[in-house]
Amino acid sequence: MSDAATTLRHRKTTEKADPPPPPSPKSPKPAAPKPTKTSGCAIVLLVFAVLAVLALAGGAGTYIYYQNPGGYFWPEDPKPWTVVPYEGEWEVDFSADVEKRDAVVAAFKHAWLAYERDAMGDDEYHPIKHKGTNLTKAGGIGYTVVDSIDTMLLMGLEEEYTRARHWVETSMSFDRDANFNTFETTIRVLGGLLSAYELTDGDQLYLDRAIDLADRILPVFDTPSGLPFSFINLAKRQGSPDTDNAGLVSVAEGATLQLEFRYLAHLTDRAEYWDKAEHVMKVIRAARLPNGLTPIFINGHVAKFVSAEIRLGSRADSYFEYLLKQYLQTGSVEMQYREMYDDAMQAIHTSLLGTSKTKKLIFTLELHPKRNGYNGQRTWVRALKQDHLVCFLGGSLMLGATTAGARLSPQSVSVPPKMSDFTPVGQRDWMTGVNLVETCVDTYRTASGLAPEIVHFREDIDAGVGDWYIKGARPRGEVPVYDARYILRPETVESLFIAYRLTGHPKYREYGWDIFQAIEKHCRVPSGGYASVLNVEEVPVQWEDKMETFLMSETLKYLFLLFSDDTVLPLNEYVFNTEAHPLPIFSPFGSTSKFGSL
Ligand SMILES: *[C@@H]1O[C@H](CO)[C@@H](O)[C@H](O)[C@H]1NC(C)=O
Repeated sequence: MSDAATTLRHRKTTEKADPPPPPSPKSPKPAAPKPTKTSGCAIVLLVFAVLAVLALAGGAGTYIYYQNPGGYFWPEDPKPWTVVPYEGEWEVDFSADVEKRDAVVAAFKHAWLAYERDAMGDDEYHPIKHKGTNLTKAGGIGYTVVDSIDTMLLMGLEEEYTRARHWVETSMSFDRDANFNTFETTIRVLGGLLSAYELTDGDQLYLDRAIDLADRILPVFDTPSGLPFSFINLAKRQGSPDTDNAGLVSVAEGATLQLEFRYLAHLTDRAEYWDKAEHVMKVIRAARLPNGLTPIFINGHVAKFVSAEIRLGSRADSYFEYLLKQYLQTGSVEMQYREMYDDAMQAIHTSLLGTSKTKKLIFTLELHPKRNGYNGQRTWVRALKQDHLVCFLGGSLMLGATTAGARLSPQSVSVPPKMSDFTPVGQRDWMTGVNLVETCVDTYRTASGLAPEIVHFREDIDAGVGDWYIKGARPRGEVPVYDARYILRPETVESLFIAYRLTGHPKYREYGWDIFQAIEKHCRVPSGGYASVLNVEEVPVQWEDKMETFLMSETLKYLFLLFSDDTVLPLNEYVFNTEAHPLPIFSPFGSTSKFGSL
């Protein structure tokens, strides 16, 4: 097993995300023909099913490929949104809230200076032990430094920036003989280098490093289907599968490399970067279920989805995010992404939303595959479970509504938008987005003011009090469950930033300020840095000794942007990669102009 597999703390893909059933003789048959009443026919069908199993086994072991889940419908009409936003008037004022913005800058310095003092150049930071660690024994790859650079540039932290750049110039190396996670390395390091290049108006150092890294990553696409390997040995330039998950690729791993590789293709005029990333989208498009849904795992040998959860959280989240952003990245001309995005949002509305018991909060749910014990038929079970990771979706739907969902053109959408600015689908997405943001904010209404990693919702028929709860929550003092932690995640403040830019409504700054204060109160380590909290319902909190790199690259960046004026990174000029690295929207030209032929 690779070093990376044991030490990596997947971000979007989190912990071992419920692996699919391992291939075994006991694995159920493929969801092939339905059993019928006549035995003769049944025998024929049995033979057929066995053949199907053998055919699948030939390429890839016995996996179960999925049928259309169907059957779960969020009410068509009227939709149960409760937050009808923005009645009444408010003054749209996008000037900076200097005091709050500067408080966020001070927090960034508190985080960075501790890291620099204790662990400069190491991939990860542990603020309580005052030490760093690397992802692998082969040495660091600039995980934290590169992830933080663009935030320093935006905040105007020149001294810190100068030292960080010097480290990139003199100490950073990708010649590391170990396996690194393809997705994490791309979004954090390649994304960070590309946005540093952009925000420095073209400092060649960053582009050179980006090209070096991208060329080392490219071999991951050399697979039968073109879907990437989950790991890459950066020194040997050799991809390898995720053996912990039976070699399957999660949809987020495959479909969250495109903004980065496409922008690099644009900068270098090298089609290979573009083509390989785009091909992945082609494969996924062809493999989608009939209703536009995508289980979290796909078999890279045969390019088919396997029997696995369907959800918007870990291992899937940024696939949905990048469908919209690929469309926006090239100036809304690549209609294939627009169609995939529209299909996916439709599928979410049909199958993956629910309404909570009391407050009628709109939440996202998951579909889990289940085999019917009696006849072996496969069904789907709704799990009313929402990862914090899904909290990107509120802002993403609002952004999608004002762009893809604009009735005339994005320029014609006012701030705040009027319902008449949207198409019917745009109205739906806007309302769902606004409501999901409120739901995510509600999950911060805990003893600490921080949100748990995972919440479960209650619907009308469910026993118990309240709209949501932390599953398996234990009494104070006992070891807290995994779901109860807050690890400095950014998704809710990301959505608040987008919601604020699109509406100018002061409540989003208020929500963001509350979250920031809770982080200051409970996560700030006095000697420097910020720690994760093990149980958001327990005060005083217990810490976990880890400061995730996305605190500096995302959480504090989005808070900074929330309190900045709206000329800083306008949403119609930039797309943010899933690690909050801003990349400019561009028009394809030169050899890239022929692209977009997905
Ligand atoms: C991380 O890797 C770098 C580069 O090889 C090395 O200088 C540093 O000492 C390593 N840090 C730790 C904590 O092992």
